[in-house]
Amino acid sequence: MLKPIEWKDNNLVLIDQRKLPNRLDYFRCTTLDELCYAISNMVVRGAPALGVVAAFGVYLGLREGYDSEAIFERLLNTRPTANSIKYVISTMSDVNNPEQAIIYALELLNKDIERNRKIGFYGKDIIKNHYNVITHCNAGALATSGYGTALGVLKAAHDDGINFFVYVDETRPFFQGSRLTAYELLYEKIDFTIICDSAAAFIMKIKNINLVIVGADRIAANGDVVNKIGTYGLAIAAKEHKVPFYVAAPTYTFDFSIDNGYDVLIEYRNDDEIKKVEDLLIAPIEAKALNPSFDVTPAKFISGYITEEGIYSTSGIYKMRR
Ligand code: MRU
Repeated sequence: MLKPIEWKDNNLVLIDQRKLPNRLDYFRCTTLDELCYAISNMVVRGAPALGVVAAFGVYLGLREGYDSEAIFERLLNTRPTANSIKYVISTMSDVNNPEQAIIYALELLNKDIERNRKIGFYGKDIIKNHYNVITHCNAGALATSGYGTALGVLKAAHDDGINFFVYVDETRPFFQGSRLTAYELLYEKIDFTIICDSAAAFIMKIKNINLVIVGADRIAANGDVVNKIGTYGLAIAAKEHKVPFYVAAPTYTFDFSIDNGYDVLIEYRNDDEIKKVEDLLIAPIEAKALNPSFDVTPAKFISGYITEEGIYSTSGIYKMRR
């Protein structure tokens, strides 16, 4: 299994996801500064992975002698949209020494993989033989401590011998689909093809697409899903073509303090992500580019939420809350 987050020799070692698929490089975080840099600059990304890395950030910060409130604030500001960082920090609010922090972080690293395996277990039955599935962004091992959420569901079905095909949205502008999901599906020997994000609606029209499955960064109390930019458009297209649209995410992705998705703070990233591929300009340098990193998919588009507790419908979310 791909291990994007490892604790080695008292430091955090991350797969440097900026370099994939060309190079499997590692990025070592020995300080809170380095760890915050890794989160903000997408060395590591994906909501569950961010939460786990944040827990190690609390340890590194305490080890350096920072005050816990200052550490929490810095981590919360690295990437504001995913609920995982907020969740981890709220569960670590009483932690104020490095020993406690490292025990918690290591526990979380293992628990996250377990949660994902359960998501896979509960979700796998929605994938049937000969299905064609679309996924967006990367909600795989690389976006978590291991195994993945949406891709975890696909892996569990594949391990059960189900034969299906995946259409992978390339996921502009950071290409989490073509760089990372494609890398993982090759690794898992799951059959797929990459498509441009803008091809997804047409592919639904001309191919027999049976299912869309994505992850989530935050889910509001009413079931609105905040996820990688492009998810909303995909959901609208799925509705038009009567394709079921599933979201796979751990229960801590639900933020019951937020009534609807439009109240979630959406991260806007640097316009260079759109105007450049690595250092190569692909747009006029003077052009403006607007780069919201996430969008809001209203609950009415979602067929079910696959969690480590089972599959919830929108109307069933109140049970999880209770
Ligand atoms: O900007 P990213 O790559 O961190 O965004 C990731 C996503 O939007 C994922 O779909 C989401 O975090 C779920 S990952 C299991």
